[in-house]
Amino acid sequence: MKNLLAIEELSAAQITAIVDEAVELKASRGNHTSKPLDGQTWAIIFTKSSTRTRVSFEVGIRELGGSPMFLSSNDIQLGRGEPIKDTARVLGRMVHGVVIRTFAQQDVVDFAEFSKLPVINALTDDEHPCQILADLQTVREKLGGWDGKKFAFVGDGFSNMTRSWMWAAERLGFELVVASPKSCQPPAEFMAQLSSGLVSVCEDPKVAVAGADVINTDVWLSMGQEGQKEKEAEFAGFQLNSELLADANQGHIVLHCLPAYRGKEITDELLEKHTDTIFQQAENRLHAQKAVLAEVSRA
Ligand code: CP
Ligand code: NVA
Repeated sequence: MKNLLAIEELSAAQITAIVDEAVELKASRGNHTSKPLDGQTWAIIFTKSSTRTRVSFEVGIRELGGSPMFLSSNDIQLGRGEPIKDTARVLGRMVHGVVIRTFAQQDVVDFAEFSKLPVINALTDDEHPCQILADLQTVREKLGGWDGKKFAFVGDGFSNMTRSWMWAAERLGFELVVASPKSCQPPAEFMAQLSSGLVSVCEDPKVAVAGADVINTDVWLSMGQEGQKEKEAEFAGFQLNSELLADANQGHIVLHCLPAYRGKEITDELLEKHTDTIFQQAENRLHAQKAVLAEVSRA
């Protein structure tokens, strides 16, 4: 695997191998015998805010023997309009790999093409693959695996998180029911790409959550949509709270990629009840991304 641009591009075997390696790297943290990024410098180019992704990549690159170089897009010429392809060509001659968080998926695709470096998508408007790999690791640790489990996603049905989850369900073969207001549901052209029959979309959060083992939500307004107050108004009734979860499977877990807006997509009470899982999920960003870095460094 040369790059990690999208869950859509991965096979079940690749996803499972990354989760397996993440579990091993977590167990051997502090005692790694291999330093696959030894002598390498990795650029981390972010156009959007981040706490978890930035810190976990900086720490992870160091722990694998490399040096991270954080570049806010505002501080480099990219922020003044220098084209992606020129930025990529320059970095391709200087660093050994790039982690990018930005808006358009095409930008990470172009960066990979023009830099010829390994490129990792640290979130775009279309996908958040690193998050989903960490979430799958968390599901493995908490529930033993994903086979036969029902997953529910309540919230924005066409966000980067939902799209990555839909591709994960499609590739790994688990049931996923997305509950979302009509206006935020994936378009028919997107759904037509999914052929497993395991991913469905509805307007009733109770239907999604009934019998679910893994219940997931995310912010109602993703980065870049903060001004869309009319969109937020559509989400009344789509909050994760204890009443909604009454019919979930016994032993269910709640996931939230964070940051969370308590009182909006999830109640403070429910989030606090599930902090053990949710902050394990945040920690697993480090381990899952180290597995991705190790994997792309072998390509
Ligand atoms: N979940 C996640 O990607 O968090 P950050 O925006 O803080 O990186
Ligand atoms: N969907 C959210 C995820 C944040 C980690 C966003 O894009 O803002």
